[in-house]
Amino acid sequence: MALSGLLLVGFLLGHLAGNLLVFKGRQAMNDYAEFLKNSPELLWTARIGLLLIFAVHLLTGIRLQLVSRGARPVAYHKKGHLVSSSASRSMLLTGAVVLVYLLFHLAHFTLGLVSPEDFQLTEQVIRDGVASSRPDVYGMMLAGFQHDWLVALYVLGMILLGMHLSHGIASLFQSLGIRHARYTPMIEISAKILAWLLAAGFIMVPLSLRSGLLEAA
Ligand code: HEM
Repeated sequence: MALSGLLLVGFLLGHLAGNLLVFKGRQAMNDYAEFLKNSPELLWTARIGLLLIFAVHLLTGIRLQLVSRGARPVAYHKKGHLVSSSASRSMLLTGAVVLVYLLFHLAHFTLGLVSPEDFQLTEQVIRDGVASSRPDVYGMMLAGFQHDWLVALYVLGMILLGMHLSHGIASLFQSLGIRHARYTPMIEISAKILAWLLAAGFIMVPLSLRSGLLEAA
């Protein structure tokens, strides 16, 4: 579970870096999207790898919950949480919401099912004097995030992702056996900072596109 979580955090860092290209403008974002589209081996290896890692993470997460419940078949008479935080108790719930978010996100930006008209947008480019067109991913994101309900959904999804990661990244170190009286508090704080920086980085994208801050790019 910890290893699959670590790989997923790696994917999120890479995906955030790709997303932040919106701040460099339409050309940078569309160059990146075009590079991915023109590298099918890379794209499909990453897609299949990600799907497998996600499946492992999901199944081990469910198993972990079942095992910890099975360890105490009779519920406690009085429920008290001495050391567990609210984030740790809601890992399964926040994880499930992130999964639903991801399915919606794939339907939105990868399959173009949520707003098909934005998905068709193209950009004209001239290379060596020859004009051609390519998918306008920047335009698709800009048009998509003019809908307030979509912005709200993405922001909500990212807040739940932040909650999931703020506990997940810290417990990842514990699962890997990295625990030390002196360093653990520092690891936990750094994990929370990383989790909320990731969530905030993603949130900046729809909010900036909605606010008109990037429109002229
Ligand atoms: C505000 C947050 C996010 C934005 C604006 C965003 C944006 C995008 C865009 C524009 C694409 C399509 C790229 C292209 O067609 O070239 C994409 C694909 C994708 N995103 Fe995100 N993303 C966000 C958050 C996330 C999160 C949190 C996850 C994972 C939990 C995620 C997972 C994916 C995956 C798996 C793909 C599919 C890549 C493929 O085509 O194979 N995204 N995202």
